[in-house]
Amino acid sequence: MKFNIALLAGDGIGPEVIDQAVKVSDAVAKKFGHEITWKPALTGAAAIDAVGEPYPDETHEICLASDAVLFGAIGHPRFDNDPSAKVRPEQGLLKMRKKLGLFANVRPTFTFPSLIDKSPLKKERIEGTDLVFLRELTGGIYFGEKGRRDGGETAYDNCVYTREEVQRLAKKGFELAMTRSKKLCCVDKANVLETSRLWRETVQAMEKDYPEVEVSYEFVDAVAMRLVQWPNSYDVLITENLFGDILTDEASVISGSMGLMPSASMGSDIALFEPIHGSYPQATGLNIANPLATVLSAAMMFETAFNLPNEGKAIRDVVNKSLAEGIVTEDLADGGKAYGTKEVGDWLAKNI
Ligand code: IPM
Ligand code: MN
Repeated sequence: MKFNIALLAGDGIGPEVIDQAVKVSDAVAKKFGHEITWKPALTGAAAIDAVGEPYPDETHEICLASDAVLFGAIGHPRFDNDPSAKVRPEQGLLKMRKKLGLFANVRPTFTFPSLIDKSPLKKERIEGTDLVFLRELTGGIYFGEKGRRDGGETAYDNCVYTREEVQRLAKKGFELAMTRSKKLCCVDKANVLETSRLWRETVQAMEKDYPEVEVSYEFVDAVAMRLVQWPNSYDVLITENLFGDILTDEASVISGSMGLMPSASMGSDIALFEPIHGSYPQATGLNIANPLATVLSAAMMFETAFNLPNEGKAIRDVVNKSLAEGIVTEDLADGGKAYGTKEVGDWLAKNI
């Protein structure tokens, strides 16, 4: 098959980890007889510097004309430390999610047997963890009206959800649960927030359409606690944008390193694949960042965007092999030999 893939490397370590995912994807394509045409496009601080806009129209056009988008990371400290900056890299990410209609963000958390001792959590707590967050990505407090009043002395961010936004996300959650162990947890704060009450009411009304799915409703603060106590008691979790942002960072610790977890964002026709970690500016250009989250995002791309499970499995297998053989970056080296970002990528591509 032939694919066009938009390649949005972004900022910080983005370009370095993206390079490895490209190498590995090309190796898989060669092995299985596919042809990939990569379409690089600007985003984030890199795009602000080049054209003054973090998600330029030209980048959007390239994404729309592609079969999938592979994304690195965006963000730069010079904007984080300047609250008055008018244009920020993150605005590009939010604009891209909205304009591409990516309302469902799939963030799995699983453990790797060879890394089970690398997790800061006790082995017996995390063994067998295999859960997926479905984070709503184009609504809630991220996109509600925000601003200042009283001469700047008061600030507000509104959290808004429509029933339809909840339904379309929850539908994906129920469908995913049906392909897994048929357990769905709706994470909210319905004891306080009106939007959460709408979430709960909407999901409750959908239960009858999926009689086999066992649905639980839990408050986000309790989930934050249970997630690190009993992660393997969860399967599919659905939640709104901000809760999902926070809980998926928390969940990533279970696997042992933030540099390991991939994600997929979907909704309309086009899907986007990216590591869940950020741009890690301190590591930029040092060849130390872990490329596996991006490489595994490419695996998700083959599996879900192109419906090619064997190609995805080839990537997952070689990643597992690299971990078992200790071909790892410094975050996982544990005092042993640490390989560079590029060296890990080369090893994976060669061993595909
Ligand atoms: C993420 C990131 C983004 C988010 C930031 C960079 C805007 O943290 O993808 O989780 O908050 O959604
Ligand atoms: Mn986040």
